[in-house]
Amino acid sequence: MCLVCVSLSGMLTVAPKGFQCPAEKNCNPCLDAAKACNLNNSCKKQRSSYIATCSKGDSSKGETCSKKRCHRALRMFLDRMHPEFSHRLLFCPCQTEGCAERRRQTIVPDCSYIEKEKPNCLELWKVCRQDSLCRSRLADYLANCWMPPHTASTCPNQDNHQACLSSFTRLIGTEITPNYVDNSFSNWVISPWCTCKGSGNQEEECMNFLHYFTNNTCLSDGTTSSLKLRLKMCCMTPQSWSAQSLNSLGLMLSGPAAFLLI
Ligand SMILES: *[C@@H]1O[C@H](CO)[C@@H](O)[C@H](O)[C@H]1NC(C)=O
Ligand SMILES: *[C@@H]1O[C@H](CO)[C@@H](O)[C@H](O)[C@H]1NC(C)=O
Repeated sequence: MCLVCVSLSGMLTVAPKGFQCPAEKNCNPCLDAAKACNLNNSCKKQRSSYIATCSKGDSSKGETCSKKRCHRALRMFLDRMHPEFSHRLLFCPCQTEGCAERRRQTIVPDCSYIEKEKPNCLELWKVCRQDSLCRSRLADYLANCWMPPHTASTCPNQDNHQACLSSFTRLIGTEITPNYVDNSFSNWVISPWCTCKGSGNQEEECMNFLHYFTNNTCLSDGTTSSLKLRLKMCCMTPQSWSAQSLNSLGLMLSGPAAFLLI
């Protein structure tokens, strides 16, 4: 079933968002990604650690979590974890809303992402520019991910989607932490928590910033091709997720496909 699915989806060809693969309806690759992390002691420990930090605060009692601490814990997890774990959690291929909701929840958005008020995107951008970590990570994201619309290639970096996904991952835990906006699996959208409504005469400038995320061909193609490769793994038993089997899968694939699996 899995192999049929992979050959149907056409490994690394660029496909529209929300590629279909009916045979896989029953698997939840985001759940599988969490299980794979739990099988590695270090991944399990660090994941539990950021989830605990980001879940502190009982909203029914009016308590709020510390976003700052949550961001720090997320950065620690994502900086330390091999993409084999972190990218699988962040970019798991979903074909159900349940799966996509789990993917949206990966970074504990109630603490790390959502706030009562949605700031204007230009305001958020300004806050980011004033912080050296955020500023440099945003610059890195733009260098590896941003292509102006209507250009022939999809990524600036020799179509290196993986570099884009890594740069995207490093934005999580900064002021402009991006996330999936909802639990849509067929037409997912990624955005920082901000809006361009009410920007007045700065609306165009604001939309240009927002499009770095919402209209990003490198990010969406990279996510889609990465998701497709990961789909291959969703039917494996947890035992077969060892680094060894990932490596052998990598060897079976040629060219740019190989490094997506490492
Ligand atoms: C956990 O994963 C890391 C790679 O991120 C690896 O270096 C380490 O050996 C793994 N630990 C175990 C116990 O498998
Ligand atoms: C961004 O995407 C929207 C909707 O998909 C489209 O209307 C708009 O023209 C795009 N903007 C750019 C700069 O590509």
